[in-house]
Amino acid sequence: MDDDDELCLCFHVTKRKVIQFIRVNRPKVASQLSECYGAGTGCGWCRPFLKRLMEEEDPASVELPSPETYALDRSEYRRRSDLDS
Ligand code: FES
Repeated sequence: MDDDDELCLCFHVTKRKVIQFIRVNRPKVASQLSECYGAGTGCGWCRPFLKRLMEEEDPASVELPSPETYALDRSEYRRRSDLDS
């Protein structure tokens, strides 16, 4: 995933925006990332990835799946979530 790819697909928040938010605001808990254009407040798929970036000393160094794999896995996650409800 490149910096301009969307990390939160629900709210179209790019990886770059999230990294910038983390560097500037130094959030203490992952839920504070919701202040970054609502990241993580939709389907919930991106939350573990947001948390990983937040916990890393250098968030830009975190390897994330390709945008295609990321979107496909999210589709599966959402399908399973729909089946659970
Ligand atoms: S992808 Fe971020 S909340 Fe759905």
